[in-house]
Amino acid sequence: MKANPGGNLDPQQVYGRNDLIELLWDRLETQSILINAERRIGKTQILRKMLAEPRQGWKPIFRDLEKVHSAQEFAELVYDDVQQFLGTKERAKNFVQRFFEEHETDHVNLKSRTWKKLLTSAIEDLMKADRPERLAFFWDEVPYMVERIRHNDGPNVAAEILDTVRSLRVEQEKFRVIFTGSIGLHHVLGKLTAAGIPTSAKNDMYHVTVTPLAPHDAEILATALLNGEKITCEDIEAAASTIAAEVDYFPFYIHHVVAGLRVEQLSRQRNKRDRLRRPTTGRSSGSLATGSLPNAADLVLSQRQRREPGDFHSGCSVTHAGFD
Ligand SMILES: Nc1ncnc2c1ncn2[C@@H]1O[C@H](COP(=O)(O)OP(=O)(O)O)[C@@H](O)[C@H]1O
Ligand SMILES: [Mg+2]
Repeated sequence: MKANPGGNLDPQQVYGRNDLIELLWDRLETQSILINAERRIGKTQILRKMLAEPRQGWKPIFRDLEKVHSAQEFAELVYDDVQQFLGTKERAKNFVQRFFEEHETDHVNLKSRTWKKLLTSAIEDLMKADRPERLAFFWDEVPYMVERIRHNDGPNVAAEILDTVRSLRVEQEKFRVIFTGSIGLHHVLGKLTAAGIPTSAKNDMYHVTVTPLAPHDAEILATALLNGEKITCEDIEAAASTIAAEVDYFPFYIHHVVAGLRVEQLSRQRNKRDRLRRPTTGRSSGSLATGSLPNAADLVLSQRQRREPGDFHSGCSVTHAGFD
């Protein structure tokens, strides 16, 4: 497996999350879910794995809401997703479509109706639909969207969005959604409360926190990456366990360290080739001995020496390990 720090992974490359994913599917049977955890811990990869391998009977639809900046845009996304799920046959019967046929001339006009009507009608239509599969909305980075809307449209609209979605969850017994957030939703709600608009937008949801990987899973990931990147060292397993422990089993940093090692190894190989071609000057280049394979400690040390301050997310507790 190639290192891919920050990119999207194939489902089989998502390590150590199977139990959590089972729990999420179990909870979804009865409740919507709020996943709150720091950025780059692996929330999106969990949702993407669930999307690619849904539990039987479910049809998840994923939306990254980080860049959504208005209530209207949000409602349109949900409307589009529901329409797509329902397909043309049911679409003809549903409320929004009827409204379109009776009152509107084109889709643009239909979509510019109030966001709340659009959102509520879409979910009501969805709940009425006779489908063997159940739709689950996976809404990634909800707090960023709410924060953006608070900034652009004001705190009232931001609170109204959360309250509308909450009402739908309460009124529509089968409506299910997973929210994720890298900034705590409670921070955003705190700002709304400070503006005089308290909302109980998350009280009915099941709360989940994502932690780093279990040590064993982190080591397997590190080994797969070291092998995939063809990193040569004396003892791959020892190197993998050192890397995993040094970054507190945080999968993003495991990818990051191995990607750095690959760059370093290539530069060592180039230096070695250059030295063989040129007459020797007696000066050494690179931080690792080039004559023998590096051991695990050398690998991690060489990465530490090269890391720029600020490379790591400030919330990551890797400082004790000597990373800035
Ligand atoms: N379970 C995992 N197995 C392997 N790598 C992972 C895993 N979870 C996250 N990663 C790595 O961490 C990066 C960030 O994960 P991501 O899901 O985007 O974080 P978040 O959504 O919490 O900000 C991914 O691009 C990948 O490199
Ligand atoms: Mg994410």
